[in-house]
Amino acid sequence: MQNKIDTLLALRQQALQGGGIDRQKKRHKSGRLNARERIELLLDDGSFEEFDLFKTHRCTQFGMEQKQFPGDGVITGYGTIDGRLIYVFSQDFTVVGGSLSETHAEKICKVMDMALKNGAPIIGLNDSGGARIQEGIESLAGYAEIFQRNVMCSGVIPQLSAIMGPCAGGAVYSPALTDFTLMVREHSYMFLTGPKVVKTVTHEDVDVETLGGAEVHTTRSGVAHLAVDNERMAISALQQLLSYLPQNNMVPPPIKETDDPPARNITQLNGLIPSDSNRPYDMKHIIELITDDGIFFEIQPDYAQNIIIGFAHFNGIAVGLVANQPNHMAGVLDNNSSIKGARFVRCCDAFNIPIVTLVDVPGFMPGTVQEYGGIIRNGAKILYAYAEATVPKVTITTRKAYGGAYCVMSSKHLRGDINYAWPSAEIAVMGAKGAVELLYGKEIANDQQLMQEKETHYNETFATPYAAAQRGYIDDVILPERTRLRICKALTMLADKHDTNPPRKHGNIPL
Ligand code: HXC
Repeated sequence: MQNKIDTLLALRQQALQGGGIDRQKKRHKSGRLNARERIELLLDDGSFEEFDLFKTHRCTQFGMEQKQFPGDGVITGYGTIDGRLIYVFSQDFTVVGGSLSETHAEKICKVMDMALKNGAPIIGLNDSGGARIQEGIESLAGYAEIFQRNVMCSGVIPQLSAIMGPCAGGAVYSPALTDFTLMVREHSYMFLTGPKVVKTVTHEDVDVETLGGAEVHTTRSGVAHLAVDNERMAISALQQLLSYLPQNNMVPPPIKETDDPPARNITQLNGLIPSDSNRPYDMKHIIELITDDGIFFEIQPDYAQNIIIGFAHFNGIAVGLVANQPNHMAGVLDNNSSIKGARFVRCCDAFNIPIVTLVDVPGFMPGTVQEYGGIIRNGAKILYAYAEATVPKVTITTRKAYGGAYCVMSSKHLRGDINYAWPSAEIAVMGAKGAVELLYGKEIANDQQLMQEKETHYNETFATPYAAAQRGYIDDVILPERTRLRICKALTMLADKHDTNPPRKHGNIPL
């Protein structure tokens, strides 16, 4: 027996070396961790249980029969984070560039199937040169098998992706199908085709960073949700993100114990809105003042900054926070911010996470750039997302809620459960200037004083929360300093909310 045990240990030892000690050292030199170290950092100590350590590829082309690496370039299994069951796969770039073979794909599919069956999140640590070129069609089939599972898991279990190195070709679509994608600055990139192919097809000269680096995908394309400076920060971000998410769509997210009293009076809030309603202020300041311990985990902080999205807790209850940002483009809704908001609202709704919305929005952005970019279709996305959401929806209007943007931002009419406004709220069809010009165009054309009078009258009559409050569209006009308490109470009241949509195969969101 001892012989057999020794053989097993020797085989294990060989498998643990991945593509070999030299390649692993090279990875370290380039400032990267290896695939196993990443898993160790991610999971609770000693909790990892590995599958398929001895699985090898079946390729006999291009001399591949001479190259066998037990595990075939991906480490898969399960473990815990903060005691919660998690499934994981981590690609090993030292084995044939982390490329995806038929068997590599089978290993990933196995843990995805188990995650779905057992209702636990799956985390992918991606580091791959794409389809294994020596295998051809089998590796393409492998990708498609993974994509199919990504779609089946979508909205059922949380799927998180960290891009730790290259992510090229087919490798990009699986992360794109998951709920959140993180990238490591200067160490990771995502693109369909690399610079060489780009040069051939479009004659563009571009380097990997400019084509698909973390900066590009978190500021311009919106493909990734967070860029971090190093791999340890990526692992820590995954752990934090997970703390707001439930195990699956049938259970609520975990409660986070806090000593922060819900009734904390926040007098600064009373003086935060500038007296000139066209002056900006930082909505993040309000968020930090009202959330438990001032903690806010922002998603996509550098993309479409006119809308803020992210997670926080109120009296221990995890929420998705959506807020217009007056500090950036006056908080207007445009194509990118509508898409950003819509996707986040749907993610929260899928995973039973209540949505708290802070509103200060002058409207939708007008003009040809927006119209040609499809603002009608894209604006409809955020409208659709809020309207279909059945999780608790608590809305606070701090200042402007004009026109279509009033309707869209979790209004009472879109099944908002609790809609409060600050006394500074302006809830109306449009701003005074535009309204007065439309109503009294000729009359005021050469009469500055009359125009001013009409504007003042309009503001006093319409640019307040009271017209909406008189109709019950606003449940109460609240003291800003009591905002935290009112949100905490509303969320507690809504804890057992149950709402449904009509039975159907699925809705038809304007994609
Ligand atoms: C097989 C691969 C590979 C791949 C890398 N390697 N990618 N082997 N298939 N896709 C191997 C290399 O041959 C090399 O082997 C080792 O991994 C390390 O790669 P290097 O090129 O030396 O590393 P680096 O300089 O860091 O460059 C990394 C890289 C580059 C940018 C990712 O390897 C690259 O461009 N790979 C191909 C990317 C690509 O075009 N993928 C698309 C595949 S088609 P040795 O033995 O020399 O160390 C696809 C379509 C699927 O994915 C569509 C599904 C929808």
